[in-house]
Amino acid sequence: MKDYPWEIYSLKELIHATNNFHDDNKIGEGGFGSVYWGRTSKGDEIAVKRLKAMTGKAEMEFAVEVEILGRVRHKNLLGLRGFYAGGDERLIVYDFMPNHSLITHLHGHLAADVLLNWPRRVGIAIGSAEGLVYLHHEANPHIIHRDIKASNVLLDSDFQAKVADFGFAKLIPEGVSHLTTRVKGTLGYLAPEYAMWGKVSESCDVYSYGILLLEIISARKPIEKLPGGIKRDIVQWASPFVEKDNYDEIVDPRLKGKFNREQVKNMVEIAMRCTAKPENRPSMLMVVDWLKGGIRRKKEVTMLVKDYMVAEEDEDYNDVDEDKNEDEDTDYERFQSRARRNWDGLKMR
Ligand SMILES: Nc1ncnc2c1ncn2[C@@H]1O[C@H](COP(=O)(O)OP(=O)(O)O)[C@@H](O)[C@H]1O
Ligand SMILES: [Mg+2]
Repeated sequence: MKDYPWEIYSLKELIHATNNFHDDNKIGEGGFGSVYWGRTSKGDEIAVKRLKAMTGKAEMEFAVEVEILGRVRHKNLLGLRGFYAGGDERLIVYDFMPNHSLITHLHGHLAADVLLNWPRRVGIAIGSAEGLVYLHHEANPHIIHRDIKASNVLLDSDFQAKVADFGFAKLIPEGVSHLTTRVKGTLGYLAPEYAMWGKVSESCDVYSYGILLLEIISARKPIEKLPGGIKRDIVQWASPFVEKDNYDEIVDPRLKGKFNREQVKNMVEIAMRCTAKPENRPSMLMVVDWLKGGIRRKKEVTMLVKDYMVAEEDEDYNDVDEDKNEDEDTDYERFQSRARRNWDGLKMR
């Protein structure tokens, strides 16, 4: 094994591999660049992320992603193969994931094919949770991903989940329980306390994971627009079914009833726990434990869910740091008002 599991590529090789970043090779579009399919001179399939514009922000994302992905190795995290940085080019090279991202299968052009049968969904739920366990509990320093969502979970040839896109990730020094930062991430997946106060800790990823879990089960989007412009999040949508013990209604109808009812119930209950108030959320270690079907523990989860479904008293957050740096992030206001509504929803749950 080499000291570094990644290599520094030459621009020439990556231009060659991607047919000069040809449009036909484009497989993804993200916040700060495009992703291209390519084949190396050795014949390996790769994905190359290319920075669109060399802004300070984009360059920071590039640096963070390379820095963090360079440190991690896990079966459920997208592997970094290397990078190129020179002149105005910033390129990141990954293993190519032939089955695209989860969003393609849940809401995108492959949704109609229903390649994600129930066992695959369970596998993806467990795999992405295990990737997060590695980041939160095994990596040193610990890593908070901050942008867990369906488009950032990629699928390999066996439909195994690979958590990707570390451009927003944060390293957490030992002994620090939470940091206060500018809000990054995606509406619909943001933990309310993070969106409102920038309080970031592992439990923000747990919240996003809970949303993702409901999305995997139901194939509904994290937020939907109701007639009249009112927005409803996926937890608000699922809650009435949970209360009535009507879990079948939550499952993606495209599965045509082919699913394991016990597993659905277990997974929905875990998702509800993950999206509860921060102090009631489980760690990802517990989530994996529960997902792997501690039948014994399921009773415990049910009890906790019932617990917080009873209306709760208001919560105080007196320990919010005052030094929040809220300069140029334009989305911040939007995040906040969205989060406030979310938060009110949480207090009711
Ligand atoms: N290794 C890969 N294999 C296949 N598709 C990929 C790969 N990496 C990224 N993609 C595609 O490109 C999209 C954007 O990549 P991502 O890393 O999330 O970048 P961004 O930071 O711009 O969101 C993904 O949602 C996915 O569809
Ligand atoms: Mg992304």
